[in-house]
Amino acid sequence: MPLQETLRFLSSFFNRPHVVGAVAPSSAGLARRMVEWIDWPNLQAVVEYGPGTGSFTRAILEAKRRESRCFAIELEPAFVAILKRRFPGVVVHQDSVANVRALCDREGIEQVDAIISGLPWAAFPESLQTQFLDAAMSVLKPGGQFVTFAYLQGLLLPAGKRFRRMLQRYFAEVGTSGVVWFNLPPAFVYRCRR
Ligand SMILES: C[S@@+](CC[C@H](N)C(=O)[O-])C[C@H]1O[C@@H](n2cnc3c(N)ncnc32)[C@H](O)[C@@H]1O
Repeated sequence: MPLQETLRFLSSFFNRPHVVGAVAPSSAGLARRMVEWIDWPNLQAVVEYGPGTGSFTRAILEAKRRESRCFAIELEPAFVAILKRRFPGVVVHQDSVANVRALCDREGIEQVDAIISGLPWAAFPESLQTQFLDAAMSVLKPGGQFVTFAYLQGLLLPAGKRFRRMLQRYFAEVGTSGVVWFNLPPAFVYRCRR
């Protein structure tokens, strides 16, 4: 990734730490972990939450079938501009994931098979975690897959522990990947099925 984009990420973090939630983009190793569990051969539609500068977007584009529908929702305008430059074929909505139902309607998508989330869940208050998960449930198919990453150290923090309990309430199945050590900071993936 060009230095300019790395600096853009860092400056967005310092301007809005509770929105960006990370000092650097995720590694390619974490991106692989994010997409490897998804049932790509049977997937009709997927939505990416909080793509930032596109670490997971690239992995999604490499994994998905050409005919599967895909769009991304990113709040930060500077990241949206970078994404549109790097991935001209990808539909990116500059909006909040709270509005995923309306955005799916706009895209003509009734339900999605998977949500791939790059959001910093542990940085959000409980009210936002609940609002975003409720909205996700309004578009995710029964049996649909939801993946999101968490930083290892976040497991010790109250917001991280609360988020894990919340996932267990919302999803029929909650598993985890192994730890991706080659990421700043080390992280793992929650693999949830509705
Ligand atoms: C931890 S960064 C991850 C970026 C990228 N997925 C990665 O792993 O490198 C979190 C991203 O979520 C975005 N974000 C935070 N709250 C959001 C919301 N409510 N709706 C959409 N995007 C949001 C931030 O702007 C940021 O790009």
